[in-house]
Amino acid sequence: MLIIEYIRQLSYPIYYTVLTAALLLLTFWIARRFAMRKMKRVVMKAEHNYQQQIAALQMQLSGKVSMLESMVEKLKLSNQELNRLSEIRSKFMSIVAHDLRQPLTSIQGFTSVLMMDSPQGGGNNEQMALNNILKATDNMNQLMADLMDISMIESGKFKMDFKNFNFNQLLNDVFTLQQVNAQKKGIFLTKYEYPTDVTIYADRFRISQVLNNLLGNAIKFSPQGGRIEIRYFVQNGWLVCYVDDEGPGIAYDEQGKIFQKFHQSDKDRSGRKQGWGLGLSIAQEIVNAHNGEIGVESPGLGHGALFWFRIPMEPASYSA
Ligand SMILES: Nc1ncnc2c1ncn2[C@@H]1O[C@H](COP(=O)(O)OP(=O)(O)O)[C@@H](O)[C@H]1O
Ligand SMILES: [Mg+2]
Repeated sequence: MLIIEYIRQLSYPIYYTVLTAALLLLTFWIARRFAMRKMKRVVMKAEHNYQQQIAALQMQLSGKVSMLESMVEKLKLSNQELNRLSEIRSKFMSIVAHDLRQPLTSIQGFTSVLMMDSPQGGGNNEQMALNNILKATDNMNQLMADLMDISMIESGKFKMDFKNFNFNQLLNDVFTLQQVNAQKKGIFLTKYEYPTDVTIYADRFRISQVLNNLLGNAIKFSPQGGRIEIRYFVQNGWLVCYVDDEGPGIAYDEQGKIFQKFHQSDKDRSGRKQGWGLGLSIAQEIVNAHNGEIGVESPGLGHGALFWFRIPMEPASYSA
């Protein structure tokens, strides 16, 4: 009351100014309230939309989670199935290793005894039949050994036994063995050794397998009277080995494929009957396990083939 009385006593201009200011304040206050309410509504709407989007995302996510769960379940099942199949394969391999190889060894032994007892002489039917049995059992033995190697490679159990050994001695052993086969076919086998005394750190048995396979192939595919050369040398800490033949050679488009399992070139069928196309793939695994390389060069069909491999000589070069 005192304030109103006080205002009334003021002169008119001041009275109006105070009144206008009061009115302005009131308008500002009302406008502010409206703006606040509107803002609140906008915020609430946005919050609502946001919650709806979150709910939709949650639904999508739970759908994906259940999909993932069912996939994990399926994976578990197929894993169990894989383990079961791997067990079957191991059993099969042990059957191959023992139950099949043992009787085969007996057959070979008895056949050799029969051969000694049977009358000797060219054209003897009995001797020829016994010879065929021996050849067949040899082939079966080789196939079983190759299959077991492939199985070990695939199950990751193909381990190398690294030791220091004299490479020349190993090559001599392989050479003497293969020389017999070469002579039977009238093939000239020559060996060049340089240097003459090389010690390498590698798996002796597995490297002999590589040499036997490369020389065996060269003999198998070469025509009668053909020449085969095997040579090796040492270069910048690597042992490099070549097997060079004058056989049918390998077509360009086949050269990348012959190291694949079971691959035998259809372009030349001369040696196909003996073998299953496993030797080179096993040789490649062995050379790779030595951190080495293996390859072939051939000017094409009818022009011979040069197989080569190289492995490091120093133990320090090995990662395993
Ligand atoms: N010295 C060679 N000359 C011509 N072709 C060869 C030679 N060595 C290998 N090949 C080709 O590579 C294929 C695969 O060889 P390999 O893996 O040793 O199997 P396999 O000797 O059992 O046929 C052979 O079938 C043959 O087509
Ligand atoms: Mg072979």
